[in-house]
Amino acid sequence: MRAYLACRAGFAGRGNPVARATEREVLASPPDPRRSLGSAFPRGMTEREFAAFRELVHRETGIALGPHKRALLEARLTKRLRALGLATFSAYHDHLRAHDATGEERRRFVNAITTNETAFFREPAHFEHLTTTWLPARHARAAAGERRLRAWSAACSTGEEPYSIAMTLLDGLDDPRRMDVRILASDIDTDVLERAAAGIYPTDSVGRVPERVLRRHFLRGVGARDGMVRVRQEVRDLVTFRRLNFLDEPWPIRTRFDLIFCRNVLMYFDRPMQARLVARLERMLEPHGLLVLGHAENLLGLASDMRRVTSTIYRHAEGSAA
Ligand SMILES: C[S@@+](CC[C@H](N)C(=O)[O-])C[C@H]1O[C@@H](n2cnc3c(N)ncnc32)[C@H](O)[C@@H]1O
Repeated sequence: MRAYLACRAGFAGRGNPVARATEREVLASPPDPRRSLGSAFPRGMTEREFAAFRELVHRETGIALGPHKRALLEARLTKRLRALGLATFSAYHDHLRAHDATGEERRRFVNAITTNETAFFREPAHFEHLTTTWLPARHARAAAGERRLRAWSAACSTGEEPYSIAMTLLDGLDDPRRMDVRILASDIDTDVLERAAAGIYPTDSVGRVPERVLRRHFLRGVGARDGMVRVRQEVRDLVTFRRLNFLDEPWPIRTRFDLIFCRNVLMYFDRPMQARLVARLERMLEPHGLLVLGHAENLLGLASDMRRVTSTIYRHAEGSAA
């Protein structure tokens, strides 16, 4: 228990960048004269405005918002209208279209509309499959000299997923230090990427993580950091965070992956976008590679050649799953 409780000076002393950023923002904000616009500000989103934003969200992210998502979209964008002092969603739409030369507001817009729910070892069966089936087979390849292992957490949100992959590899590989392991973690949302890179989480978020994993891979904050944990440096060192929008052409990635986790994001896209994305992901896989989807996702009807390993794990058509 003490190893996990032990708090490295860096963590205890430096503070939580996530909390700091929020504080700074609050402290830096001058009194806002636009608040005088009243509590009804901004005005509710009309059907027409909703249609325009649905189209924009789809064009910018591929996310297909259902017709019942108006209240959700309104709630998520209201803070941006308030920040800019705009009274209507049409004015915000205009702002994005004609007054955002740097693209900064478009970035904030995208960050505001994404859904970032995630957790450490979410859908544990995936990590169990790696440990009990995939890694033992992978060891044979390592023994034959194939020491390079690349994983990609595509749509990594706040980082729990790529760190869970890193911990599983560190714990499951015969001799991780002799392997060349790298994990790319990407997301469209720059806010979540910033939090992910810090690797600092509320203690609640590791409530279901087994004690053994906690001890080995986390530090617990003390003093000002009480109630927080931090992923250990050894784990963070394996993961590189990058912004990537699945719509980008081309993707700035030159490597091929042994593992791609693309979980709980396909479901936000329509079928044509899902099919395009899966085809691109398939091309990024090594012949023996695995594609892991979320619990509510599958490749049915997507004309993919991938072979099913379990209900949500697929392997490349050309190889065996190791
Ligand atoms: C619900 S989270 C899933 C997080 C993690 N994969 C998991 O299963 O726990 C979905 C993530 O997809 C990201 N996302 C949505 N549209 C995207 C796009 N066009 N390109 C890349 N990431 C996107 C969101 O920002 C969000 O963080």
